[in-house]
Amino acid sequence: MRDLVQENNLSVNDFIYPLFIKDEQNAFEEIQSMPGIHRFGGERLLYEIEELLALGIKSVVLFPLTNSELKNSQAIESYNANNLTCRTIRALKKRFPELVIMTDIALDPYTDHGHDGIIVDGKIANDETVKVLCKMALAQAEAGADILGPSDMMDGRVHAIRKALEAEGHPDVCILSYTAKYASCLYGPFRDALQSANYGIDESIPRDKKTYQMNIANSVEALRELELDVEEGADMVMIKPAGWYLDIIRQVKDRANIPVVAYQVSGEYSMILASVQAGLMKREQAIYESLLSIKRAGADLILSYFAKELFSL
Ligand code: PBG
Repeated sequence: MRDLVQENNLSVNDFIYPLFIKDEQNAFEEIQSMPGIHRFGGERLLYEIEELLALGIKSVVLFPLTNSELKNSQAIESYNANNLTCRTIRALKKRFPELVIMTDIALDPYTDHGHDGIIVDGKIANDETVKVLCKMALAQAEAGADILGPSDMMDGRVHAIRKALEAEGHPDVCILSYTAKYASCLYGPFRDALQSANYGIDESIPRDKKTYQMNIANSVEALRELELDVEEGADMVMIKPAGWYLDIIRQVKDRANIPVVAYQVSGEYSMILASVQAGLMKREQAIYESLLSIKRAGADLILSYFAKELFSL
């Protein structure tokens, strides 16, 4: 009876699985701060995707570790049509045409300082950055990406990317905008995974991302961002992090008439595992409860590092 009247469930169709990629054919490196999560080289990535598809997980999002010699202040590698992400998209699309590939649009894997934007006079320059993001979006769309996820939080980038996609013959590519992305402490393990937190290398570099990521104290602002993103042409909207921002997921869900996505981020993953490790809770229950709560709050789709484990049980 309890099952009959259960209101929310987790389906394999609700998940997008994040994957870290590395430019080294056989790489399979565990990320220290994220036990059980690896960086995959080309060959290993193909095996991993085979496993995911066998479990029914059809959608992935790619995050590249960029070799440090390819990083610079202008992030020029971000729009190189032959960069690791673009090469990987082409290889995956060829081998697994049914796979849905999402990519990240932000400059942090490609800037030497790790900020998501271009710095001019000690500040993240919004409009300069948007120009580069458009080039990056086009390179990924041309490589075959299905969903572009601008995670940079610059103003006006959804409109600019949409316009560029239309102009260059990619009207079908979906934009999943990171609508409410908070300046959270929960991204620490991710920045470790991408080696993308070199702020402080010099005093002219802002020490945090607070000039573009949202204030953790705000919720009305999330609704304003929602309105703007929908107006600018987003196909789906995202709230990130998820677990400490369930109120935001609910408020956005109540107003949005497009799919609402939530990202259970690296810090949430590692925090849950650390608690399990310390014997404070049971692994399976903790994973399930954390994800079901996000669903109950109103997320239609969830990005989670637990997706593979959840459907392997
Ligand atoms: C890049 C980006 C970040 C995450 C996803 N895309 C890091 C950041 O904004 O610093 C974090 C994801 C996670 O922590 O799992 N802009």
